[in-house]
Amino acid sequence: MMGRYAAITGWGMALPERVITNAELARNIDTSDEWIRTRTGIAERRVVGPGEYTSTLATAAGLRALQCAEITPSKVDLVILATCTPDRPFPATACTVQSNLGISYAGAFDLNAACSGFVYALSVATSMIQSGAHHTVLLVAADIFTHLINWQDRNTCVLFGDGAGAVVLQASDKPLGLISSKIGAWGNGEDLMAAEAGGTRLPATPELLRQGRQYVAMNGREIFKHAVRWMSDSSQQVIAAANLTIDDIQLIVPHQANMRIIEATAKRLELPLERVFVNLERYGNTSAASVPIALCEAVEQGRLHEGDHVLLTAFGGGLTWASSVVRWGQ
Ligand code: ACO
Repeated sequence: MMGRYAAITGWGMALPERVITNAELARNIDTSDEWIRTRTGIAERRVVGPGEYTSTLATAAGLRALQCAEITPSKVDLVILATCTPDRPFPATACTVQSNLGISYAGAFDLNAACSGFVYALSVATSMIQSGAHHTVLLVAADIFTHLINWQDRNTCVLFGDGAGAVVLQASDKPLGLISSKIGAWGNGEDLMAAEAGGTRLPATPELLRQGRQYVAMNGREIFKHAVRWMSDSSQQVIAAANLTIDDIQLIVPHQANMRIIEATAKRLELPLERVFVNLERYGNTSAASVPIALCEAVEQGRLHEGDHVLLTAFGGGLTWASSVVRWGQ
């Protein structure tokens, strides 16, 4: 069947066991539970332990999504992994996930759009199905962002956590799944949030590693302003492109970076907070995984119903952003 639409028919998430509270961080750096809660809304985050890496979390989330969709791995004909923290620099971690799940011979590739990765990849996966080239896509977003974090840098280390989320997309003739999307980037802002060393431009040397140049440095204030602007602008664009108004959006599932960013974005969209899904208190910013983890929890909590319009919006390093309107239903 060549579907004009790509319905989300399964979803799953995976988080490391280990919880790190604000109080624990405050024992090692000059910060406090109160500062972190009031400036970000985060209370605790999950962090990987020995034997956990991007592919293990991605595999666990992917397996749950396949079980939820009630399909066998052999039905999947494409695996996309949204990540900016792959297991290894080479090859793509999507291939590891494909192998772990026994999805033989399906296409597999990584997509790096930092925290916007899942919403970017949703647009790509839907297009692949709409073109007729693929029928069943496993889309996983997984990041071990704490790998890029200097635990002595209070500007960044309080914000992030690790995790994975996944969805199954299947060709459908019903008008379900992504109905409008917008992906964007502003490369001029790439240095506002970046890990300098460890790539081809500045290969890691013992001296650079000693200086901590492999870790993410961030201009939080600038990122904050860009995040609000681009998430709200692109959200308005996708709502208009779907011929809808904000009143037609039953739920927004935004990237979970900072409660104040979410509130400012909702305010610009004139969307009441009752229609905004938030779980960042427990997980912090899980990078590309944040939107699918939040989507999973929104479904588990009965916040989404057949025919609802859910707005997904994300922003991240690059700088990148992406928004989409999804019509919920299987
Ligand atoms: N604990 C205590 N004090 C802190 C901490 C901390 N963890 N971090 C910073 N401060 C201090 C600063 O040093 C500064 O002190 P100063 O005034 O003496 O210089 C003061 O707090 C205020 O700093 P601001 O940067 O103005 O604080 P702000 O209210 O902007 O909050 C924050 C900082 C939370 C980083 C905010 O700017 C933010 O969330 N920005 C967006 C970051 C983000 O979401 N990045 C991820 C993008 S998505 C991706 O691609 C992964």
